Amino acid sequence: MPITIKSEREIERMREAGRRLALVHEKLQQVIRPGISTAEIDRLGEACIRDLDSVPSFLHYNGYPASICVSVNDEVVHGIPSEGRILREGDIVSLDAGLIYEGYHADAARTHAVGGVSPEAQRLIDITRECFFEGIRFARAGHHLHEISEAVEAHAEKYGYGVVRDLVGHGIGTHLHEAPEIPNYRQKKRGILLRPGMTLAVEPMINAGTWKVRWLEDQWTVVSADHSLSAHYENTICITEGEPEILTLTAREAEALSASKTEKG
Ligand code: MF3
Ligand code: CO
Repeated sequence: MPITIKSEREIERMREAGRRLALVHEKLQQVIRPGISTAEIDRLGEACIRDLDSVPSFLHYNGYPASICVSVNDEVVHGIPSEGRILREGDIVSLDAGLIYEGYHADAARTHAVGGVSPEAQRLIDITRECFFEGIRFARAGHHLHEISEAVEAHAEKYGYGVVRDLVGHGIGTHLHEAPEIPNYRQKKRGILLRPGMTLAVEPMINAGTWKVRWLEDQWTVVSADHSLSAHYENTICITEGEPEILTLTAREAEALSASKTEKG
């Protein structure tokens, strides 16, 4: 897949896809509580996606058996929902969801606290989100791709966190995974020049301990090698001449973001 520049018409479709995916995350956030199974989260997510005239893009992707990746505690990404996995107070849970609307993909992930969590767990969730926003400060025309990577890693490093290296962000559009790959750690080369109309899924995956990961027997679930907690935060964005447009924020998130910008002046 080459890197594609989307036309305004295509970007409008990606906005529509992103808006729908944000609604899915809004819905799923509301159902996260101790006692829910990860399979139930997947069912609710899939139903929500289909109600929005969209298709779950993860379902059957390379054989993945569900619509929502649900990854608990030391699980980094691609956790497989199951009836037997019940969320408990104090867990953290990453929800990664993707959908296709009128031929265009949106991809986004959030990590949530289940009930009350330790200050360490909450900090990991918050800093992982911050890593995304530090990274996308460089997601604008005229900057190079790997400036994003470096900024993500630099922020995580301040807290002694491990930045996952085995999985990366990606271009997105008519395919879930398009070029370029977007690593979350420093690169030797500066990467491609960013241009308006590029649409990217930027997705830091951050471990409280080592950056190293391993795959479980199911061939999907990625866990931190030292079983430290792991968080994931992802949005689909569009490169412009100025600030990137974030296509997958919920209304509340968008409001909070613009309020925080006004505050900073
Ligand atoms: N959001 C992930 C990604 O960007 C999940 C896709 S993998 C799947 O790669 F198999 F679960 F679909
Ligand atoms: Co992705």
